[in-house]
Amino acid sequence: MSNITEEINKRRTFAIISHPDAGKTTLTEKFLLYGGAINLAGSVKGKATARHAVSDWMEIEKERGISVTSSVLQFNYDGYCINILDTPGHQDFSEDTYRTLMAADSAVMVIDASKGVEAQTRKLFKVCGMRGIPIFTFINKMDRDANDTFELLDEIEKELGIATCPVNWPIGSGKRFKGVYDRHENHVLTFSDTEKGTKEGETTIISMDDEETLMEVLGDEALETLRDEIELLDGASVEFDLDEVRRGKLTPVFFGSALTNFGVEIFLQNFLKMATTPLPRISQGENVEPVENDFSAFVFKIQANMNKAHRDRIAFMRICSGKFDATKEVRHVQGGKNMRLSQPQQIMADERKILSEAYAGDIIGVFDPGIFSIGDTVCMPKDNICYEGIPTFAPEHFARVRQMDTMKRKQFIKGVNQIAQEGAIQIFQEFNTGMEEIIVGVVGVLQFDVLKYRLENEYNVEIKLEPLPYEHIRWIENKDEVDLAKLSGTSDMKKIKDLKGNPLLLFINQWSIGMTLDRNKGLVLSEFGRG
Ligand code: G4P
Repeated sequence: MSNITEEINKRRTFAIISHPDAGKTTLTEKFLLYGGAINLAGSVKGKATARHAVSDWMEIEKERGISVTSSVLQFNYDGYCINILDTPGHQDFSEDTYRTLMAADSAVMVIDASKGVEAQTRKLFKVCGMRGIPIFTFINKMDRDANDTFELLDEIEKELGIATCPVNWPIGSGKRFKGVYDRHENHVLTFSDTEKGTKEGETTIISMDDEETLMEVLGDEALETLRDEIELLDGASVEFDLDEVRRGKLTPVFFGSALTNFGVEIFLQNFLKMATTPLPRISQGENVEPVENDFSAFVFKIQANMNKAHRDRIAFMRICSGKFDATKEVRHVQGGKNMRLSQPQQIMADERKILSEAYAGDIIGVFDPGIFSIGDTVCMPKDNICYEGIPTFAPEHFARVRQMDTMKRKQFIKGVNQIAQEGAIQIFQEFNTGMEEIIVGVVGVLQFDVLKYRLENEYNVEIKLEPLPYEHIRWIENKDEVDLAKLSGTSDMKKIKDLKGNPLLLFINQWSIGMTLDRNKGLVLSEFGRG
């Protein structure tokens, strides 16, 4: 095997999805500890400190004490090279959070055992589901009182529409949390330290045949419950099938506690075995295999003004095939130009490292003088690769935007267009009128503030945002077959178009969407726009 093939095959690139506070940061931190990247572990957690070192680029962040930037963490563990993509949550949830999922090959879904499936997980899951990438579930906080295990699994299946297969099974929860039963190995892993709370738990392995020790450690009540549950589980749950996992149809489920570090390493080990090597991506209808091709990558995110002094933009690229060599020229396909990627770097939680090489599966950030757009491809000049674009994700908040000073029309239009090109906002127009009225759509409300702030500070334009009541946007899949002028929806439906002239519909609620579909037979609506 060549060195390049070996490097690519040891890569696992995944995103962690969860609702805020489910324990994503804590779990990531523990992963890093196993990888020996101890110095990094603290910096993941330091939402208020370390992360700001990178994300100082915008005053608005400082004021609010949050981070609009996301980063990639790379570490080695057990012969694997792992890339964890951070998906910004909390208030900084934005379209970038979705786009990051486009760069991952699998996802780890962290669920709080006492809360079950929550809103943000549902949204992120939908995007993973669209790509059919493998999803691994870690049910966290078992050291606290948890919901019934069977009910949790049922909820995942019903709410998210994915089959579950527990790889291990919890023995109690909260103060009575004793450990987990490993179904494959048929043994129990005990957890020693629930009482004290924060100290890391010690693990002991007990075979299910060792009745005496089991009785001693678990007690007869917990042991009997466990035996009953295993029987029920064996009868009821679907068989483990790695192909189904890799197709994103079946999620392996693990239980543990990130805080007390119980069940984390077993999860990591199993996950790494089951997760795929970097997946091929589609270029003009054909798969580009990571190991069989020279360097190629696509831009999935653009971060503006990371360094205020330089007004620079960073384009984040996911390497899809081959090896990136900073000394070689590459081709920016959409721009039609050959170039050397400037200042290629790895953006970690609290540092940037200039890179000279990287491999398929890795994420690099490159200096962008304003030429890249989201979805663009770069490849070797001799190759003819052009990756499918990244879909546009449905904004959930809309506002009409007007500039205060009508004399500044030009700057206003330029600013709004540039910010939209970076992907921070989406812009639309009234269906029947020109550019006078601009409607802005965002995934997270913070983006409205970002827009206002940036227009004022970078383009010297003051704006007024007038919130609109719509929450749902739909692209018309069969737009060539539908006469939009004749389309009749509910009275609160609004017809708009994007800058390319594609028609879209805005709705206030799900009910209006249903009614509109009922009234217009043959109309096909989509939650994702084609990239
Ligand atoms: P997030 O990134 O998904 O938003 O969650 P984060 O890891 O920041 O965890 C949110 C809170 O939940 C933190 O508490 C964290 O310590 C706690 N937590 C995470 N995993 C576990 C677990 O397995 N068991 C228990 N009992 N708690 C867990 P906090 O009080 O908000 O923050 P901190 O003061 O501990 O930093």
